[in-house]
Amino acid sequence: MQRTATSRHYLMVEPTYFDVEYSINPWMHPELPTYPKVALEQWSALRDLYLELGHRVDVLEPRPGLPDMVFSANGATVVDGRVLVARFRHPQRRPESDVFRGWFTDHGFSVVRQAQWTNEGEGDCLTAGARILAGSGFRTTPEAHTEIQEFLGLPTVTLTLTDPRYYHLDTALAVLDDDLIMYSPQAFSADSVRRLQELYPDAITASADDAEAFGLNAVSDGRHVVLPHGATGVIAQLRERGFEPIGVDMSELQKAGGGPKCCTLELRGAA
Ligand code: ARG
Repeated sequence: MQRTATSRHYLMVEPTYFDVEYSINPWMHPELPTYPKVALEQWSALRDLYLELGHRVDVLEPRPGLPDMVFSANGATVVDGRVLVARFRHPQRRPESDVFRGWFTDHGFSVVRQAQWTNEGEGDCLTAGARILAGSGFRTTPEAHTEIQEFLGLPTVTLTLTDPRYYHLDTALAVLDDDLIMYSPQAFSADSVRRLQELYPDAITASADDAEAFGLNAVSDGRHVVLPHGATGVIAQLRERGFEPIGVDMSELQKAGGGPKCCTLELRGAA
C-alpha cells in the first residue's frame, strides 16, 4: 500500500535553556549531567528533517528559566486555526502558557483561548481525523476533555493512562493517519484499551521495549513517521504497513522524558 504524505506546519522551540532542573516525571534525574550542545544538535537535526520532508517549521523564541519549553507540543492544541493554550499541572511549567499565548496572538491566530482546566496541549490531546483522542491520569484532566470538545467542536474520546512513565498520551500513542494509530496497551486502563480496540481494530500495538525506547512519541505526515531509532519493533511494523519510518536520536531530550513528538506542535489550519 502506497501511503501519501501531506505537508504540515509545525511550531518548535529551540532548547537554548534546556536542562533537567527538577523532576516531574520518572525519566527526570536532575542529579545526572545534561549536554546542551548535544540537545541542540539533536533538536536541529529534527527541525532540518522536517524541512527536508517539505514541512513548514515556525520557531518560537525560548525564555530563560523554562527548561522544558523545548517540548512545544505541550503549549497548545490547534485545530482549524483555533488555539486552546495549555494550562500546566506543575508550577515549574506554568509561565510557558503566557509565552505561547503571546506567540499565537502575534502570529495572526484570531481565536486564542486560555484553557480553564489543566490541559497540556498536544501532549495529551491528539487530533485523529475528525476526533480528538485525549489522555488523562497524570496531567490533563477529564474536565479539560469536555472543554476541548466544546471549543473545537470535535468528539473527544477520554483515555486513561495508568503508568507514570507514560504520563502524557503522546508517550503511549501516536496518530499515523486519520484512522490509524499505534499505541502501547500496557500504558492504559483496561477500559481504555477496549475502547481503542473498538475504534481502531487495525492499530499497531507496541511492545514494552518499544514504549520504553519512546517509540510511541512519533510524528507522522501520513507517510513518513519520525520516531526514536531505538524503537526497532514498531519501525519494522510501520514498514510492513507501507509507512516510511525515520529513526532519530533524541537521547538528550529523553532525559527530561521527551522525544520527537514532544518537540513538535502541529499548527492545523494556521494562516
Ligand atoms: N519534562 C517535561 C514534562 O514532564 C516533558 C514533556 C514532554 N512532552 C510531551 N509532549 N510528552 O512536562
